[in-house]
Amino acid sequence: MGSKQYKVTIVGTGNIGGAIARGLTQGTVIEPSNITCTDRSQALLDKIQAFNPAVHVSHDNIEAVRGAEIVIIAVKPWMVESVIDEIKTTLDYDTQVVVSIAAGVTFEQLTAYLTKRSGMNRSTPPIFRVIPNTAIEVRSSMTFVSACDASQEQTELILSIFNELGNALLVDERLMTAGTALASSGIAFALRYIRAAIEGGVELGFYPQEAQEIVVHTVKGAVDLLLNNKSNPEQEIDRVTTPGGITIRGLNEMELSGFTSSVIRGLKASK
Ligand SMILES: NC(=O)c1ccc[n+]([C@@H]2O[C@H](COP(=O)([O-])OP(=O)(O)OC[C@H]3O[C@@H](n4cnc5c(N)ncnc54)[C@H](OP(=O)(O)O)[C@@H]3O)[C@@H](O)[C@H]2O)c1
Repeated sequence: MGSKQYKVTIVGTGNIGGAIARGLTQGTVIEPSNITCTDRSQALLDKIQAFNPAVHVSHDNIEAVRGAEIVIIAVKPWMVESVIDEIKTTLDYDTQVVVSIAAGVTFEQLTAYLTKRSGMNRSTPPIFRVIPNTAIEVRSSMTFVSACDASQEQTELILSIFNELGNALLVDERLMTAGTALASSGIAFALRYIRAAIEGGVELGFYPQEAQEIVVHTVKGAVDLLLNNKSNPEQEIDRVTTPGGITIRGLNEMELSGFTSSVIRGLKASK
């Protein structure tokens, strides 16, 4: 599988399906005119076409999946089975891969929904599970990809698609739940730190808007340091903590209140 000429159909153009479609139209892997979006809501289809008129839209899932090499199912988890039932006979497992975005729907379930039986023969397509986070909206998602019966070429294609929408990591399915806690719920945890720091900033004397600007850019700076220097947090912390200084006093006070253990406990509770 090379690039550019692949057709993608996204079934369900809500929060995540819509964000994927918008992100892909701004990327280089898939041509906007090779993207088809379906939904029950005309308003959502109008929205994606207003964003990029080259994208095809449809209410007809069966027609929309015909000829697409990549079929992305982006409906709520409890709707996945009925969507697959609807499109299954049209899908060609020799030429199409199925990508499920639905949280918590396992390969075992997807395989059961997708299996076609003909006499003694059973067939299933290459299947991917993908768990993005809400930053997919701004093409900055930490996305987990897991593959079942897929070739390396197909896996690389799916990774390249989701790398255009942030950072994609290939993991075993057994790590999808942990990944969801660390990255999907994790975005809420990072935001809660930001909110707490803003509240602290107001107590220190800044207006809320100023405090938010300060905290957001401070966090962005911390992330940029880690990404650019390829360092670990402790190395960067060491550079700020003068012995006997105010930063280490602040950090130790936070730890006394259970900062690290709260984060770890929260992550484990989210799993
Ligand atoms: N939101 C997140 O942060 C997040 C993160 C990771 C994974 N996910 C997963 O992403 C999936 C989608 O979540 P979402 O938040 O994007 O949901 P959503 O906003 O409700 O989007 C799903 C869309 O699919 C439409 N739909 C339902 N049945 C359909 C059908 N048969 N054919 C075509 N379209 C259909 C829905 O229409 P109706 O409203 O009329 O039903 C809705 O517009 C979920 O499985 C979720 O687990 C979400």
